[in-house]
Amino acid sequence: MVHDSIIEVEGLTKVYHMSGRVEVPALRGVDLSVKTGEFVAILGPSGSGKSSLFHIIGGLTPPSTGCVRVAGHDLTNMTDRERTALRRHSVGFVFQRFNLLPTLSAAENIEIAKHIAGDRQTDPRFENLLSLLGIEHRLHHKPHALSGGEQQRVAIARAIVNQPPILLADEPTGNLDSQNSKAVLTTLKTLNKELGQTILMITHNAEAAAFCDARTLHMLDGKILAEESTGRQ
Ligand SMILES: Nc1ncnc2c1ncn2[C@@H]1O[C@H](COP(=O)(O)OP(=O)(O)O)[C@@H](O)[C@H]1O
Ligand SMILES: [Mg+2]
Repeated sequence: MVHDSIIEVEGLTKVYHMSGRVEVPALRGVDLSVKTGEFVAILGPSGSGKSSLFHIIGGLTPPSTGCVRVAGHDLTNMTDRERTALRRHSVGFVFQRFNLLPTLSAAENIEIAKHIAGDRQTDPRFENLLSLLGIEHRLHHKPHALSGGEQQRVAIARAIVNQPPILLADEPTGNLDSQNSKAVLTTLKTLNKELGQTILMITHNAEAAAFCDARTLHMLDGKILAEESTGRQ
């Protein structure tokens, strides 16, 4: 296995054990290599294993078999405590639902993520980050007063405020109309180009992947099918 990549996945399988003896095979031998600074889009039908792959890379759930290395950590035999540390320091998550706390302002939603990670220092990129995201003038508002695109950009700020080397976005535009989707995709593209943020994005939309100049992977039945590159990176 090559170790110069920030994510290295080889022969990964995942089987969920349901009640009784029912087993659900979600991943059936996934190989994936991502370099620092890449933008990778993952397309595939519902149930093809996209979220399961993210949950394993992000330390939410352990792999069944195979090799998984993320930001220098071997996930194969990680304890729950080690996976928690991985989630806290190495990976930022963005979901289809923005999951902002409704009683807190946008700024407080972002700040609380810093406190949870125990990082009281001001990130020198922070001011710049919020202007890159185009939300600096909306920070005192609570989520209900923000558009969907603004809420998702606040969620992105929260996900990367502690500078995780990897951002995982699971259908980040799935709840948004085309105008708000474009704002969020523009933001992700900017973070990748300007800050060199490594991003993996699940999407149903090939246009979204192309818009972000992302390397595009297709999943089906728990496997990565074929690879195509836009050639524009
Ligand atoms: N926590 C879970 N427990 C049991 N089965 C699951 C769980 N999560 C996902 N699955 C199953 O694994 C398969 C892949 O799901 P998922 O990774 O969510 O795919 P996708 O994100 O591409 O829709 C599906 O058959 C799904 O029902
Ligand atoms: Mg999913």
